[in-house]
Amino acid sequence: MSDSYDLIVIGGGPGGYVAAIRAAQLGLKTACVDKRGSLGGTCLNVGCIPSKALLQSSHHYEVANHEFAVHGIKTTGLSVDLKTMMARKDKVVEDLTKGIEFLLKKNKVDYIVGEASIAKAGQVTVKPPKKGARKIILETKDILIATGSDSAPLKGVEVDEKKIVTSTGALALGKVPKTMIVIGAGVIGLEMGSVWRRLGTQVTVVEFLPTVMPGMDGEVSKTMARTFKKQGMTLKLSTKVTGAKVSRTGVALSVESVKTKGKTETLKADVVLLAIGRRPYTGNLGLKKAGVEVDGHGFITVDENFQTNVAGIFAIGDVIGGVMLAHKAEDEGMACAEILAGEAGHVDYNTIPGIVYTWPEVAALGKTEEQLKEAGTAYRVGKFPFTANSRARAIADTDGFVKILADVETDSILGAHIIGPAAGDLIQEIVVGMELGASAEDIARICHGHPGLSEAVKEAALAVGGRAIHM
Ligand code: FAD
Ligand code: NAI
Repeated sequence: MSDSYDLIVIGGGPGGYVAAIRAAQLGLKTACVDKRGSLGGTCLNVGCIPSKALLQSSHHYEVANHEFAVHGIKTTGLSVDLKTMMARKDKVVEDLTKGIEFLLKKNKVDYIVGEASIAKAGQVTVKPPKKGARKIILETKDILIATGSDSAPLKGVEVDEKKIVTSTGALALGKVPKTMIVIGAGVIGLEMGSVWRRLGTQVTVVEFLPTVMPGMDGEVSKTMARTFKKQGMTLKLSTKVTGAKVSRTGVALSVESVKTKGKTETLKADVVLLAIGRRPYTGNLGLKKAGVEVDGHGFITVDENFQTNVAGIFAIGDVIGGVMLAHKAEDEGMACAEILAGEAGHVDYNTIPGIVYTWPEVAALGKTEEQLKEAGTAYRVGKFPFTANSRARAIADTDGFVKILADVETDSILGAHIIGPAAGDLIQEIVVGMELGASAEDIARICHGHPGLSEAVKEAALAVGGRAIHM
């Protein structure tokens, strides 16, 4: 291992490891430092991957319990072996994180385990995890900060990762709780709430704002709320949490109605999941000493080339804010590495899809109807329900719709919102369309395989021009 680099990346999450690989591909001598001891960051270790593993396992259980019968498949004596389910999840995580280690090696990126801090531009100090081990001082031309984020705290609700948990604790509960209160009807709350509800927990979601998934297209979030209620989740919207008391038997949560001020209530549950957002993580990084500026919320501020206010220090991913998504961090990592290697890197922030892996799945892209109305943009809506799609009928997954928003004058696609089977994969066609400047008519004229769920996208695009065929 050399101690002088072109680039040292601090953080081996999807932003950091992708940037390191791309930089090495472009000929930069690169090191990636991560203190976790396992690569892949939040996403692979305690985020995207373990949550999707449990969502899949719990979905199988739900389908076997409630949906097999309609297909003429009889089941008896179904039960959950949580230990095996968790072990499968852990194995998926372990295999994938090891895979990233292999990729770094293959691309000749030095992987250094330890906590990095920036001594000054051009110098990084690494504290190895072993007690008493000497600090390593590394010289480098450029530094890229990709230290990610962690859960936002809530005053009066102290996390112990046993009875009051963040997503990390909710991914590793030792038994299925009888009751769970989720604070926050955002992505984590709805995904992890769905996992435990499917496994038998009575889940109540407490949300400060009047809708689930605030910020999503209004029609989609209304449909989500209706569907989750039908599935057995209790939603307490417009409700503020004011405190929590932990006892031997569980947690008592004090809540207050936002609409009827002074109307308070105590809710009890075995476990409380705190999921009210995430905040940038820059602990022990030495930003102040290095003179790196952050904004009022602690996010590192960067220019269009991901450069901080200090020459030679760059930042990407969750730690710079914007949407906190793995694919956004990855694309920024690629773009930043390309810029550092003298190429032209770019991220199109208008075409980053957001996917919620509940059932039905939800995918959002571009503008919502509410945003278009507020901006005074004249638009057309094309909507097509999955009940009218032959493949959705055949597979008995007919909940939801595809909705495409297009400019009245130019017909260019301004946004797309899908709730239904495979929404996260179906949206990708529209991402490509938007990237290439497609109109709704372009999507409508493309041949889509039959019978396919993607025909619902074609029909929604046809519906923009008032000419859907199967509706
Ligand atoms: P991170 O992944 O947070 O990685 C930062 C790394 O830096 C960490 O490994 C940390 O150990 C390391 N680090 C920090 N400080 C130091 C230091 N001083 N020295 C050395 N190393 C350091 N996004 C999606 O797109 N799809 C999903 O399905 C999805 N699901 C999620 C589910 C959950 C439960 C959570 C919590 C998040 C989920 N996300 C999802 C969000 C996604 O995980 C993040 O957006 C993504 O991981 C951000 O990548 P990053 O590289 O910026 O930071
Ligand atoms: P979030 O921002 O998605 O949702 C937080 C919710 O909590 C909001 O609805 C907010 O109004 C509510 N809230 C805030 N303060 C509150 C309070 N005091 N009481 C009650 N409700 C309150 O944040 P979440 O769910 O914690 O997820 C963090 C981030 O992780 C997401 O924004 C997303 O970027 C990422 N993520 C992405 C996933 C995906 O892409 N599928 C899955 C999970 C996480």
